[in-house]
Amino acid sequence: MKPRDPLPARAHTLPAKYYTDRDVYDREQERFFRGMWVCVGRLGELSDRGSFVARHVAGDSIFIVRTNGPGEPDAVKAFQNVCRHRGTQLCRDEHGRFQGSIQCEYHAWTYGLDGQLLGAPHMDGTAGFRKGDHSLLEVRAGLWEGFIFICLADSGPTLEQQLDDLPFKFRPWRMHELRRGDGMTYDIATNWKLIIQNFSECLHCPNLHPALNKLSHYLSGENEPLRPTYMGGRMDLNDGVETMSMDGTCPRAFLPGLSPDDQRRVYYYALFPNLLISAHPDYVMAHTLWPLAPDRTRLVCEWHFHPDEIARAGFSVDDVREFWDMTNRQDWHVCELAQAGISSRAYRPGPYSDREDLLYAFDRFIVAALDDAP
Ligand code: FES
Ligand SMILES: [Fe+2]
Repeated sequence: MKPRDPLPARAHTLPAKYYTDRDVYDREQERFFRGMWVCVGRLGELSDRGSFVARHVAGDSIFIVRTNGPGEPDAVKAFQNVCRHRGTQLCRDEHGRFQGSIQCEYHAWTYGLDGQLLGAPHMDGTAGFRKGDHSLLEVRAGLWEGFIFICLADSGPTLEQQLDDLPFKFRPWRMHELRRGDGMTYDIATNWKLIIQNFSECLHCPNLHPALNKLSHYLSGENEPLRPTYMGGRMDLNDGVETMSMDGTCPRAFLPGLSPDDQRRVYYYALFPNLLISAHPDYVMAHTLWPLAPDRTRLVCEWHFHPDEIARAGFSVDDVREFWDMTNRQDWHVCELAQAGISSRAYRPGPYSDREDLLYAFDRFIVAALDDAP
């Protein structure tokens, strides 16, 4: 990718503490994973009214429930996974379906799917008790193009504000229509930011990803300058290559709505803090990042396809999964090596290339958002 702006002289990587220090990690959790809208999955995981998924975000257990019935506009609500009686967790399973209401296993307090407390056995004679004071604690939730987001902060920017102009940018892919074809989960011994940084540069591609580099030249395409809540750019497919797959051929139709230019490109966007979108001519790959510790991150990688293609006889994800699983593992390998080296006493911040402009900008964003001295 070509740089857009020259880097200042002496643009260096961050000090080690940003990748190893518990205090920095805790402040990042607070600032980015509690203060921003975090992607927690796809609406397709919630098949019908009452279906839920539970997630851990910044130390909180949250469950997200689909609240719309058939024929109604898509809607979800998110709640803290804590009973308002004596605090018991309401759901232990990562996903499931409430049968019309949510009942605590302990003393059977029962809530509607809107979080209202409907039933509280043995509380009738309790002085001052009012059901209306004990609804589930709601967390802001929103949908964009089939992705579910939550925000643990009660106030602050809306999801629309955080997404900025991305809805306009990604409209041609009609991602809300796409369905999950397959997915993989990885546990990576690295800091979450190193994954975003690795995702946002391709100088490593010729060396680390020879197969990828044959499909899409590492210096093709262009970066956009970093925006307040995202960064990204595009790479071009080489002549004769149809998509990113093991052999570069595409056995699927291109996504409807893409321009001829977009059929020749792959767009890579990191939506802070935890969603990486890679939009291909015939599918969209989404990584969600789940920081577990300063040096540990769980990553969920999923591939989403057009439902017409999924329904087609002979549909297979194998070419895409094999290609990206190989590429992912190459990336996680160097992210783990980077974490190990940065954790060493010998580490000193090193100079960025002027083609690593987004990484430097991302570092500045992190430092500024944490209110650290520049
Ligand atoms: S703790 Fe939930 S009903 Fe008592
Ligand atoms: Fe890579």
